[in-house]
Amino acid sequence: MRHVSRVGYVKRTIGKREYKSRRIKRVEVPKVSMALQELFFLCQDVFKGPDSVPLPHHVHNLCRLLDKMKADDVGLSSDLQFFKPHNVVKATPPRVTYTTIYQCPHFSLCIFFIPANGVIPLHNHPGMTVFSKLLLGKMHIKSYDWAADQTSVSKVDSLQTPTSQLRLAKLKADDVFVAPCKTSVLYPTTGGNIHAFTAITPCAVLDVLGPPYSAEDGRDCSYYKDHPYSSYCNGENKMEGESYGWLEEIVMPENSQMDGIEYLGPQIMEMNCNTALADGKYM
Ligand SMILES: [Fe+2]
Repeated sequence: MRHVSRVGYVKRTIGKREYKSRRIKRVEVPKVSMALQELFFLCQDVFKGPDSVPLPHHVHNLCRLLDKMKADDVGLSSDLQFFKPHNVVKATPPRVTYTTIYQCPHFSLCIFFIPANGVIPLHNHPGMTVFSKLLLGKMHIKSYDWAADQTSVSKVDSLQTPTSQLRLAKLKADDVFVAPCKTSVLYPTTGGNIHAFTAITPCAVLDVLGPPYSAEDGRDCSYYKDHPYSSYCNGENKMEGESYGWLEEIVMPENSQMDGIEYLGPQIMEMNCNTALADGKYM
């Protein structure tokens, strides 16, 4: 698997046959991660399907759990070659890799691996609530929500012919995050639903999406380019203390495509929490 070697996973427990390659440093990965299993049970409870937004106490519980989660809960370690500061990916821009831990119609759990200088461009999450937990690394996050007044302007070329529409968006975040840090939450219309990640050092981000993207159900991903507010404001000033930008929808930049890899971390026991407790399988 070409892509697996690009990120690598903490190796599973050494089997007898694997002893030959002992020179490679290996770290034991438990077959089940209590934190990941707990996250799965909580997500089953929290995400009720399309057109629903988690209740505030559910958001609080999920954040509290994610805040405590560490890289090794999903089989990762800062010792992996991918996360070494000297590990420079030669592709320009460096390609982002992702893996799906679990997906069902109500929610999905994914990890994004972003090499240093790698970018996930501005993109939206239609009708979705997303919890993002930076597990390893340092990255810049920029996010927007659509402005309430739905103002838009036309972008014109040198002949004053309109080429695209730009829609006003309110800047929500423009900050650097360093792991371990608090979980970020975005909602369908607030919290920075349109965001971009730029890795400063190699990063791993755990994303919990509810519901997941689904083009069939009208939740396809759109990409955007942002323009400074001053470029199209006609001298009009927005409220003081708030920052705005103009977002232009673009096709997904070709060099932003991601590579998918198999998830090799601790597995989720796919069962209902109550069933697990009754069976004594989750103790
Ligand atoms: Fe996202």
